[in-house]
Amino acid sequence: MKENIFKDYNELSEAVADQVIKQIKNKPDSLITIAGGETPLGTLQILSNRLLNEDIDYSKVTFVSLDEWVSLNESTVGSCRESLNTNLFDSLNLTDEQVVFFDGDAENLTDECKQIDDVINRNDGLDLIILGIGMNGHLGFNEPGIITRKSSIVKLADVTKQVMNKYFDEELKLTHGITLGYEQILASKKIVLMANGARKANIIQIMKDSEISYDVPASILKDSNNFELYIDEEARRLNEKD
Ligand code: GLP
Repeated sequence: MKENIFKDYNELSEAVADQVIKQIKNKPDSLITIAGGETPLGTLQILSNRLLNEDIDYSKVTFVSLDEWVSLNESTVGSCRESLNTNLFDSLNLTDEQVVFFDGDAENLTDECKQIDDVINRNDGLDLIILGIGMNGHLGFNEPGIITRKSSIVKLADVTKQVMNKYFDEELKLTHGITLGYEQILASKKIVLMANGARKANIIQIMKDSEISYDVPASILKDSNNFELYIDEEARRLNEKD
């Protein structure tokens, strides 16, 4: 596992944005997944500026969903799709086909899974995935102890239910998530896991120390040669002597 450590959140966000731009330049028809949540917000803003202001052809890129809260779609502020819309997609000139996202409010969630699985299969896997890490080590909504392969509907862990209120204006009673599965994440040609801030230091340390186990979902990434960790100093600091 290659570990990249940055002075602060801004440098971390710039480095991850660089990876996305590099990917688009190298393979203009890339399939790219970027997590929702707070961690990638800086990256999304840098990306939206750079894609608009630099001469980069992103017209063939497809952005694929990582996850969504079941019962929510882009109309709820704080949903994964809304966050990506607001911070990236809306400012770009994208066709409808360039964004393939789980609709957590769809009547048939199995069809939502199939739609995403088909797009990923047609491309022979994702080209780049930018992941965040949950406080319990989850990736997307792959919660500890749950083994998924392809897109799946997963019961939310208690920790996730406690943390989720930070995303929403009102208290929501959400019980499930819809997420890419481990097989799809691990098959990505490049995997970036980003984390910032002191509150993530504990779980980052656990991920590093843990054996590879579905009980610590992010530890599964250590199995892949395509995986790199991108963290800031605060997320690294727990057991380090500075
Ligand atoms: C959320 C999402 C993940 C996200 C992770 C970290 O619950 N399901 O996709 O990467 O947890 O979120 P944050 O970046 O807000 O800490």
